[in-house]
Amino acid sequence: MRVAIIGGGAVGGIIAYYLYRGGINDIDVYYASTASVEAVRRNKGITVIIDNNKYLVPVTPYSSLTPNGIYDIVFNCVKSHQVKTTINLLKKIIDSKTVIIMLQNGFGGQELVYEKISSERTVFGAVYFGAYRLDRHIVELRGPGPLFIGREKGLYPDMLEIATRLKRGGCDARVTSKIMFYRWLKLGVNSVINPLTAIARAPNRIVLTPEGLALASRILDEVVLAAEKHGVSLDKNRLLRLVKRIAESTRENYSSMAQDILAGRRTEIDYINGYVAEIVGDGVNRTITYVIHLIEAGVLS
Ligand SMILES: NC(=O)c1ccc[n+]([C@@H]2O[C@H](COP(=O)([O-])OP(=O)(O)OC[C@H]3O[C@@H](n4cnc5c(N)ncnc54)[C@H](OP(=O)(O)O)[C@@H]3O)[C@@H](O)[C@H]2O)c1
Repeated sequence: MRVAIIGGGAVGGIIAYYLYRGGINDIDVYYASTASVEAVRRNKGITVIIDNNKYLVPVTPYSSLTPNGIYDIVFNCVKSHQVKTTINLLKKIIDSKTVIIMLQNGFGGQELVYEKISSERTVFGAVYFGAYRLDRHIVELRGPGPLFIGREKGLYPDMLEIATRLKRGGCDARVTSKIMFYRWLKLGVNSVINPLTAIARAPNRIVLTPEGLALASRILDEVVLAAEKHGVSLDKNRLLRLVKRIAESTRENYSSMAQDILAGRRTEIDYINGYVAEIVGDGVNRTITYVIHLIEAGVLS
């Protein structure tokens, strides 16, 4: 089975670790920058830190400009707004049998490949583990959690095989036809924790303040409505409890959006709160999206 990962960042690095431990020895990892390719080449792979233990995962790094043949499985682990930059590469490394597993948070990024590349070969994903990229060649698993992959209709043998390999490697990988439910649930969590921590430049515990919880409640009202319009039923109170539980168990962590803002990088707001706003219209998610855009543009600090 030929396997490639597009995007060897936080999520891609952890996926490489699980695949390698699951018995897949030959893993090609594609990067956008030559600096990342060089760093991983020098390191002879990706260093993955789990529970303070370091493991070297021997992958072969490639630039996205130098495709290395056709793969059976491709994990797409770039950020949502980077997905469009992977389309050219994808076209060169897949055939009609390749399974493409999309692992972006939110909605819009995964859909782009579904629409532009193949509705048949695209498998959706929802990542519930938390990972950090400490350096170009070093990633750390900081919050274990399941990985859901699936399609509403049709399961492929390769998809089941790869889930088995991931499980063997220690990943809590689950194949489900209810993938949209798990993606919406994850969007619910992200829609609260990410922007609130990014606006406050504060760790996740900021969500647990009275103001944080009041905002959470309003954000989730709209998330539940948006999900319903897309045929997914979410229970607002259960979702709020999940958000609180995650904010509590990760209280000192900085969300990926908070990290992006602190590092001056573009965020995934359009694919999370912005996506909800597109469905439900003006409301708190729209306002939050505007505020994050102003911060990204350096207008608001
Ligand atoms: N981190 C988490 O804990 C977590 C959890 C759940 C879901 N997610 C989601 O997973 C997705 C990835 O997040 P992440 O934190 O892993 O991001 P990340 O650490 O920033 O990694 C992104 C990687 O994509 C590469 N890349 C970008 N454009 C590319 C292209 N055109 N071709 C090849 N490689 C390309 C980058 O290459 P360079 O190294 O060259 O820049 C980088 O290695 C996001 O949608 C995020 O919301 C993340």
